[in-house]
Amino acid sequence: MTAAWTGTICSDPVMVSVSIRPERYSHDIIARTGEFVINLTTEQLTYAADFCGVRSGRDVDKFEHLHLTRVPSRCVSAPSIGESPVCLECLVTAVEKLGTHDLFIAKVVQVSVDEQYLDKKGRLVLEDAGLVAYVHGVYLSLGKKLGTFGFSVRKKGGAKRMGSTKSAKAKAEKREKADRRKPADLLKASAKPEKRKAAEKRNRAVKPEKRKVR
Ligand SMILES: Cc1cc2nc3c(=O)[nH]c(=O)nc-3n(C[C@H](O)[C@H](O)[C@H](O)COP(=O)(O)O)c2cc1C
Repeated sequence: MTAAWTGTICSDPVMVSVSIRPERYSHDIIARTGEFVINLTTEQLTYAADFCGVRSGRDVDKFEHLHLTRVPSRCVSAPSIGESPVCLECLVTAVEKLGTHDLFIAKVVQVSVDEQYLDKKGRLVLEDAGLVAYVHGVYLSLGKKLGTFGFSVRKKGGAKRMGSTKSAKAKAEKREKADRRKPADLLKASAKPEKRKAAEKRNRAVKPEKRKVR
């Protein structure tokens, strides 16, 4: 299954979490076996990720249908996806019933990485893997590099700073200008009547002072 609500939650031991609705076929399997694999998604895997997120394993063998390579994992019985650049084999340590979703907390017991994403020193270089983000209904390929860890406090003249203050300022001004657009302007932008109705409803529902101004 495709899961957007997943993430790293501890570095030592390496732990992850994934939030899954009890009605998912995968939920039962993970609850029963206490094992799963997180396979990172690339641009090439986006079609497969979407399909795995809208069809159930109850009805279709997704590996077969999508011609994905079922690779035996090293430490868990759940298979890994051969086409994924990084596969995290996980053992469930706790389950928190949150409401609509159950939060599976798990320990990462094995990580497999496609060798092409390891540099000469064996460090993970994932910038070129074409990783994909899922943002509010849209799949996006990750954009340009904006900085590296700690760049905001790095001394000038040291490592190259990412993004000039000038361009950041111009971007902030542009955003501010866009935010100043009146609701009426925003409504004009959506041509379809049904979209306009929905936007009108939203504008009525949100009190102006509560609207987020980024
Ligand atoms: C992009 C995307 C992200 C999703 N994220 C989650 C998630 O985090 N948790 C969840 O329970 N379902 C999520 N889903 C829905 C499941 O992937 C979907 O219901 C899937 O068909 C379940 O498959 P299964 O029945 O074989 O387990 C997501 C779907 C998509 C398309």
